[in-house]
Amino acid sequence: MIIGDLTRADFKRDLPKAIADMCEYLNTLDLEGLELGRHDITEQVYMNVMSFDTAPADSKQAELHHKYIDVQVLISGKENIEYSVTYPTLSLYTEYNEEDDYRLTPEIECKSTLSLRPKMFVVFLPYEPHKPGCNVDNQSVNLKKLVVKVPVDLI
Ligand code: CU
Repeated sequence: MIIGDLTRADFKRDLPKAIADMCEYLNTLDLEGLELGRHDITEQVYMNVMSFDTAPADSKQAELHHKYIDVQVLISGKENIEYSVTYPTLSLYTEYNEEDDYRLTPEIECKSTLSLRPKMFVVFLPYEPHKPGCNVDNQSVNLKKLVVKVPVDLI
């Protein structure tokens, strides 16, 4: 897991090259103006742009992936993301959905909480569970965010 802020001049420091290049590309875009939905960035890398209302963490499912890295960028609003960097007990998760590369669980073990502000990004590597879209201070707000899906083989 890596956390950063696209507005920092040195945001690429220590990032794997594939992720640094992609973040640099994101900085050339008008993120507020991006259309919702899927955008292909390269043959292998794409992003989903979405807008929704945050919800209480206990009403949401956490996810993890096997093959894709998530680079999640908050565009507007605010959002808590629960996560853990402890290796997950996979028997507590649903069967792997191979087509869409995810498995779900209601509650993350040994969790921590990250609060994202606009232009912050967080990178979740495979087998790092995360529960995005949670309320901050028990308040539901509308947010816009994007998630870039990068095959782990690229880094
Ligand atoms: Cu994810």
